[in-house]
Amino acid sequence: MSLTPEPRPPVGPHPLRRAPEAAARAAYDWIGRGDRTLADDAAVAAMAARLETLGLDARLLVGEGPRDEIGQLYHGQVFGRGEPRWDVVVDPLEGTSFLAKGMTNAMAVLGLAPHGSLFNPLPALYMEKLAVPPAARGRVDPTAPVAERLRQLSKALDKPVLDMTVYVIEKPRNKALVEAIHAAGARVALYPAGDVAGALMAAIPGSGIDALMGTGGTPEGLLSAIAIRAMGGDFMARVDPQLATECRAVEAAGMDLTRWYRLDELVRSDQVAFCATGITTGLLLDGVERGGLQEKTHSLLIGGEAGARQMLTSWHPRA
Ligand code: FBP
Repeated sequence: MSLTPEPRPPVGPHPLRRAPEAAARAAYDWIGRGDRTLADDAAVAAMAARLETLGLDARLLVGEGPRDEIGQLYHGQVFGRGEPRWDVVVDPLEGTSFLAKGMTNAMAVLGLAPHGSLFNPLPALYMEKLAVPPAARGRVDPTAPVAERLRQLSKALDKPVLDMTVYVIEKPRNKALVEAIHAAGARVALYPAGDVAGALMAAIPGSGIDALMGTGGTPEGLLSAIAIRAMGGDFMARVDPQLATECRAVEAAGMDLTRWYRLDELVRSDQVAFCATGITTGLLLDGVERGGLQEKTHSLLIGGEAGARQMLTSWHPRA
């Protein structure tokens, strides 16, 4: 009998995807059951367990919340044994309320960049965002009035304003923005949640979405910035606190609310990776499919120096 250990086959493409895949499969059980907390808990636990096994020396730059409030995936949590080489941003369940209501667009998301290369938005929880396709990179001034921004975008894309569609999440804070887009003559794709999907769709030419505008979460903003830095397009953001406690914390941290951060200030490296796995079928991804002894997941992987974008369908044996 030989004592040579059996060779191990390669473990399959893109080990990083395993964390969002695990979160998506765990959250699947909670689709349409009206309980966003249990759904989120399941996704968080599954993603945290998977991250531990990936062998990454990483720090969680933006997780689910502060360490004293959150048991797993807290801001600053360290994975691996060495000094962090990577900074990770996660949203194990992007679209928690979507999922609890059995609606579209819920997904599990993870982004990674070299340690120290990401803008740290904390303590801000909300940011105003602008995402556009590659042809409009650097050609839309986020500080200009909405009608002017749309004119600039129209020129960059060589597309009439009337034919353009802007993705906005439907929140009271974005109401004036929606009115201004309508007044300027463009269409609005209004979704109750899910601005990572909106930002990525905006950056993908020919997706049917020409821009993402409006205020949403900062983890989602950073995740969108990582993906768009890798695949092309433009993304800019401005800290825009919404909650009273958040406003006080942001003021105490001396954050400038008028400053728009460029993509290369939000993500200061090309060596980034992004992975999103669909939970419920949405604009960007199909959801988890369960049948018989298997589960099927659909993941979008973006990374590498050329910013390659791949869709990966995986079959997982059910436990
Ligand atoms: P969930 O909080 O339900 O996961 O929804 C996600 C999301 O819609 C993000 O896409 C968006 O950035 C953020 O929430 C906006 O936050 P809020 O729902 O608090 O306005």
